[in-house]
Amino acid sequence: MNTDILQKDLQDLENSGIYRSLKALDSPQGREIILEGKRVLNFCSNDYLGLANDARIKKAAIEGIKEYGLGSGASRLVCGNMGPHEKLEADLALFKHTESALVYSSGYMANTGIIPALMDRHGVVLSDKLNHASIIDGIVLSRARLLRYPHADMQALQDILKDIPAAQPKLIVTDTVFSMDGDRAPLKEIIDLARCYDAIVMVDEAHAFGVLGAHGSGLVEELSLEGQVAIQMGTLSKAAGSFGAYACGTKVLREYLINKSRSFIYTTAMPPALAQASRAALKIIIEGGPLRRKLQENADYLRAGLKGMGFDTMNSSTAIIPILVKGSLQAKAMSRRLLERGIFVQAIRPPTVPIGTARLRLTVTATHAQEDLDNLLNALRTL
Ligand SMILES: Cc1ncc(COP(=O)(O)O)c(C=O)c1O
Repeated sequence: MNTDILQKDLQDLENSGIYRSLKALDSPQGREIILEGKRVLNFCSNDYLGLANDARIKKAAIEGIKEYGLGSGASRLVCGNMGPHEKLEADLALFKHTESALVYSSGYMANTGIIPALMDRHGVVLSDKLNHASIIDGIVLSRARLLRYPHADMQALQDILKDIPAAQPKLIVTDTVFSMDGDRAPLKEIIDLARCYDAIVMVDEAHAFGVLGAHGSGLVEELSLEGQVAIQMGTLSKAAGSFGAYACGTKVLREYLINKSRSFIYTTAMPPALAQASRAALKIIIEGGPLRRKLQENADYLRAGLKGMGFDTMNSSTAIIPILVKGSLQAKAMSRRLLERGIFVQAIRPPTVPIGTARLRLTVTATHAQEDLDNLLNALRTL
């Protein structure tokens, strides 16, 4: 292998400000972390409710290990299907008001497993331009025709739908909260269009699960759209502070995915202790109204402060708050200067976001104190 070519590609990435590198934490996830030996305020995690290091969830995981061991030892269909997996699925179905749920080992695996199970080269998938990469990868794997509509543009979606033959299978897929912009999808309008043009709707609630809706079930709950979305996917790795993901829908959908979804079939089952931990997280989420209120208050406070200072926070309405910088090198430099002041905010650059829209992506959590938010605002003021 000629590593000179790789080295040159890496140098090009570095020169364009889009080189990626890893930074190690020497602490649990939290509002404050130890990053490469230095204590810093953290505004990067998706641990929206502060559950990643919650004592109740850790206890559930430890007890799960004591009872079931660590590894599951096989795929679900061979002999890795354990009580905790099925119990978690029953809990999730109850929580999401669906007939059933199926757990995947991660959100990436769910999206790359669900879409190819349901669609093939005869179908069309309509996907918001800002959907998560795992959705795009799922569509590519399915070999269906990918039609991307401009972000949240319902007129454009309708124009595309109009031109697809009525008999052709159609799937509309959208993030409910967009991971890099922090805005909500126009889900009601998407469902109305899907009904008109006989399309299936799939949502990715990764950043809404635990966060939106009175019980934290997601945007579908917030907008009272239960029963109107065929496939509700989400991850347990963000607000739930755990790991893994789910697909919720009908019993037939679950059976179909068990039989057809390659990323479910051909992988070792999630460690049962993680399923136990996720069940404990779900209990906290259901009763998490005060945590969600605090999260929204924190997000609103920070957003207002940023807007007051003239920053462009795009259309964010959730705990994900971008500061649009545009240039990758500038975004990286701002992130570095904040870190020098003890504040960790990642610069998000292409290809994760469209070219010319590099940004700082701030995430607030329910565990941030107002003083933390003020520290961040002050640091940005004097950057
Ligand atoms: C919208 C969205 N979908 C899916 C995923 C993948 O989920 P997971 O981290 O569980 O693989 C993520 C983030 O990682 C995401 O932001």
